[in-house]
Amino acid sequence: MSDEEREQREKLVRFGALLYERRLAHGSAGNLSVRLGDGAILVTPTNSSLGFLEPDRISKVAPTGELLAGDPPSKEAFFHLAVYEERPAAKAIVHLHSTHAVALSCLCHERDDDVLPPLTAYGVMRVGRLPLLRYFRPGDRALAEAVREAAKRHHAMLLANHGPIVAGRTLEEAVHAYEELEETAKVFFLLGERKASPLSFEAIAELNRAFSS
Ligand code: 13P
Repeated sequence: MSDEEREQREKLVRFGALLYERRLAHGSAGNLSVRLGDGAILVTPTNSSLGFLEPDRISKVAPTGELLAGDPPSKEAFFHLAVYEERPAAKAIVHLHSTHAVALSCLCHERDDDVLPPLTAYGVMRVGRLPLLRYFRPGDRALAEAVREAAKRHHAMLLANHGPIVAGRTLEEAVHAYEELEETAKVFFLLGERKASPLSFEAIAELNRAFSS
């Protein structure tokens, strides 16, 4: 096993435990992946708890979906592969069922191209526009195809009645963006029916000019 693979397996274990301790992941919900230099991905095994991952049991999956090593992969491995195919710069993906983001995914939204208002600078900088994808059964190959379509334009998306998918150039970046999404959703619900003052179009454009890379 290469040093890169060993390091990434251990990193998945550490971040899984962190997300579990912070209660962003519970039970056996959610899955994480990273893309290796050779194009294969490491993805958390199906039905595993992110709080108790074991480095050697993490699944290694070829871009074709074939299992190369480790336990049987997440049933969502196909949407992870679809995001990597569409986003060459993406090297890590976080999919969790955290409470506020899931609550947002269960609401009726007037428009589904952006379901999280631009309330804060960090919400805009780390998450940006958040489209809502219609409901599919977890593991449905049609879900992976819908995710592929959205990934052409977005690094973050919300699956209806399910939860978010967030991609990043590193696992840290994907986790930070996921946490920002969850916190922004929490703020959204805290504000409730009160009249909020979202960032202006000009403020969003300035953030995008200053911080998009
Ligand atoms: P897996 O246990 O197969 O990864 O599925 C968990 C999940 O979050 C489904 O969306």
